Amino acid sequence: MQVRNFSIIAHVDHGKSTLADRILEHLGAMGERDKRDQTLDTLELERERGITIKSTPVRLNYTRPNGEKYVLNLIDTPGHVDFNYEVSRSLAACEGVLLLVDASQGVEAQTIVNAYLAIDSGLDIIPVVNKIDLPAADPEGAAQELEDVVGIPAEDAIFASGKTGVGVPEILEAIVERIPSPPGDPDAPLKALIFDSVFDAYQGVIVFVRVLEGQLKPKDKITLFSNGKHFEVDKVGTFSPGLVVGESLTAGDVGWVAAGIKDIHDAQVGDTLMERERPITDPFPGFKPAQPVVFSGLYPTDTEAYRKLREALEKLKLNDAAFSFEPETSEALGFGFRCGFLGLLHAEIIQERLEREYDLDLIATAPAVIYRITLSNGEIFETQNPAEFPTRDRVDLIEEPYIKLSVMLPEEHVGPVMQLLQERRGSMVTMNYLGKRVELIYEVPFAEILYDFHDRLKSISRGYASMDYEIIGYREGELVKVDIYVNNEIVDALAVIVHEDRAYPLGRKIVDKMAEVIPRQMWPVPVQAMIGGKIIARATVKAFRKDVLAKCYGGDISRKKKLLDKQKKGKARMKQIGTVEVPQEAFLAVLSTE
Ligand code: GTP
Repeated sequence: MQVRNFSIIAHVDHGKSTLADRILEHLGAMGERDKRDQTLDTLELERERGITIKSTPVRLNYTRPNGEKYVLNLIDTPGHVDFNYEVSRSLAACEGVLLLVDASQGVEAQTIVNAYLAIDSGLDIIPVVNKIDLPAADPEGAAQELEDVVGIPAEDAIFASGKTGVGVPEILEAIVERIPSPPGDPDAPLKALIFDSVFDAYQGVIVFVRVLEGQLKPKDKITLFSNGKHFEVDKVGTFSPGLVVGESLTAGDVGWVAAGIKDIHDAQVGDTLMERERPITDPFPGFKPAQPVVFSGLYPTDTEAYRKLREALEKLKLNDAAFSFEPETSEALGFGFRCGFLGLLHAEIIQERLEREYDLDLIATAPAVIYRITLSNGEIFETQNPAEFPTRDRVDLIEEPYIKLSVMLPEEHVGPVMQLLQERRGSMVTMNYLGKRVELIYEVPFAEILYDFHDRLKSISRGYASMDYEIIGYREGELVKVDIYVNNEIVDALAVIVHEDRAYPLGRKIVDKMAEVIPRQMWPVPVQAMIGGKIIARATVKAFRKDVLAKCYGGDISRKKKLLDKQKKGKARMKQIGTVEVPQEAFLAVLSTE
């Protein structure tokens, strides 16, 4: 049987899931998605999909109008910059992609980044202009943009709608005609790329592979290229659409392997599986173990919940090789964990899961990157914890990670966005005009986009700007640590690292926000920002709740109610610091956009 392996890539919200569903429906596989979910459930695989764990691939049977039969493997990719490395590994399991562009939005930042990931993987790209049913659709315009920006001929584009199903038959024919059949020699030594893995309580780690060369079947003795660990294959199979047990997998196939692997860190995305007896010397290139780049402290609001938090973190880690944690103690917050994530979205997902699935109330500290510090005595160390930052007099050199940031936006918002990038210490690399839109490429310190950057970008561009980034390396920075004092006591967990020039405005913002969210006490409470013991900003939490209402001059009931609600909300999650209760919002004051 002829095989085609493909994936769908797009900017977020350009209609990937909807179009995939229409394709499944067209091939009579609809409803099987649900079946697949149940199958996964019975295997006790995590149900969270799309992000930490991608959907399993789907194997589809397609009969062409001329009667020829094909197997189409649709491999899902995570759709966010935090997971770009995983996107590129999923793409490596394919020979081609559908590149979707929303006909009413045109090319966006992730359209370009994803397109280049596909081009770099040597894939054939089928451009699909989607959502042509929308009144604001401009399919020709979108196709032309793809040609101008990515160099994909406009005339190759298929116009489609995931809503009405228009274009789906053409897409299926294009997959067969334009995407090559998978290469590979079934008799060569085994070489299989791991593009995803999930943990199952009964079978251990289930590894999703693309067999590039050779074959894989039960009882085979296999070895992981990166760490040399040996395993024996227990079961193999395909996704049809649940995990279906099969006899073997052969070069060109996409499938799964269970081999009694107990630890997900042993089966990382990007690694290569090989035969124990006939090891290869040329693994799939570019393997890198998952490396967290954004760090934040997580503390239970209730100290009793520490053990529960640890257990929850351990469970999450079973299924997510990119997530790390280690115990940390804060004078202000007590016992908690320093957690590492691939990016902000990843951090948010983990926090949400801890709260939703494990019923934990958490205080999260502001996200931080990894700094490289050379001390005056020549010693070099790395830290992502502001609390561990040495004092200025002991430091020779501080380096921080930089990113290459690309922003796509309509022409009329270029001015304010460039100003924002300037404020964030960005330096321009290029600026490309693409019709009425502009692509800005900047180099920016990574830390600068962690704090409210995305929200600001969206608000100054009225929602039209989109962004993507990659980490490009370390550069020197004049960084200082800003300490925060509440009621004259230092709160270690609130410290932030920031560039000298930004320290004053940021200190101001933090103390103002804190004074706003800390509930009023019987007496006024000072909140101060300091650098090396010197006060750079100060605000006061005013005494008494009646002060809040006093501002309203009696009349305006709705405003009163709003203020009281605001106070109540702030109460939800508190941490006692000295005599003052500090709400979660205060810990993230640095992220606030107001
Ligand atoms: P995931 O990232 O996988 O969640 O998919 P996506 O974000 O690429 O897009 P999704 O399929 O979730 O669609 C985003 C929104 O666009 C949803 O509100 C859909 O209903 C809508 N949508 C998707 N395709 C079409 C289409 O062809 N026409 C119209 N009018 N709306 C669409």
